[in-house]
Amino acid sequence: MQHGKIEVAVKLEMSLGESPVWSSKNQTLHWVDINNGNIYSWNTQPGDAPSVISLNEQVGCVALAEEGLLAAAASGVKYLPEQGQVQHLVDNAEWDAQGNRFNDGRCDAAGRLWVGTIAGDETSPTAALYCLEGGKLEKRLSSMGISNGLAFSPDQRWLYHTDSLSRCILRYSFDVATGELGQGEVFVDLEQLGLPGVPDGAAVDAEGYYWSALYGGGRIVRFSSSGGLVEEYSVPCPHPTMVAFGGDDLRSLYITTATQHLQTAEDKHAYPDAGSLFTMRIATPGLVEPSAQPLRNR
Ligand code: BGC
Ligand code: CA
Repeated sequence: MQHGKIEVAVKLEMSLGESPVWSSKNQTLHWVDINNGNIYSWNTQPGDAPSVISLNEQVGCVALAEEGLLAAAASGVKYLPEQGQVQHLVDNAEWDAQGNRFNDGRCDAAGRLWVGTIAGDETSPTAALYCLEGGKLEKRLSSMGISNGLAFSPDQRWLYHTDSLSRCILRYSFDVATGELGQGEVFVDLEQLGLPGVPDGAAVDAEGYYWSALYGGGRIVRFSSSGGLVEEYSVPCPHPTMVAFGGDDLRSLYITTATQHLQTAEDKHAYPDAGSLFTMRIATPGLVEPSAQPLRNR
């Protein structure tokens, strides 16, 4: 496989593929189709089909947990043990109050789960970013429409985040020992760089570069730690949603995509592979994804 060539890894027609996350321990890629409430797990062997678990509600993201996965479903965070029943951990109060479901999430190196919400109408500034620690979900940032793009710098000194509607990616100074966030500052402004679409999911590589999926922009972009655009790859459909590094060398980039905004028959015809999982070999490896410890107190 060539560097820089994006290929279909698993042909799917997901409505809203999202949240790829690589388990180094199990050499398995997990991801979700938010709208259909499906959680996929795949050993990355070409020809082997992924296994699928269906929840009875939308599922915004998954994170690795010890002996299983955490899933931020629309109504709350669940623990899916490798063996046994799904356990409900905490409610999403915004779901009952406003119909805001959980969206993008990621675990920090101390095992906290950071997970945000998306406004029911995808525009009102009623969504927020939460941190799950010691079994409690605490609101950390508010007044946003679509919480997305969570990632941490390799030294855990920065938390990256975006309200996709703002078309800006922000970074906050971060203290991994306490979980405190400092002031946010603009890291990347898509407008200023003349980039299309909105910033969706992301991942940081071992050199500290931030890879972002431009939803509606049909491309994956790589930014240096000072926010400069250094690489750009066109995806064969307009709505890539998130990236993850996988494979035994962490040098396979996996990209989830969506069909939900392809409205017309022409659009669907023009992008036959939309909604699939894509992959590309890359030069710089990713970081090992930590496991969530949602009940642990510090
Ligand atoms: C959300 C989608 C939204 C997209 C682009 C995703 O994280 O789940 O519903 O359309 O971001 O903002
Ligand atoms: Ca997302």
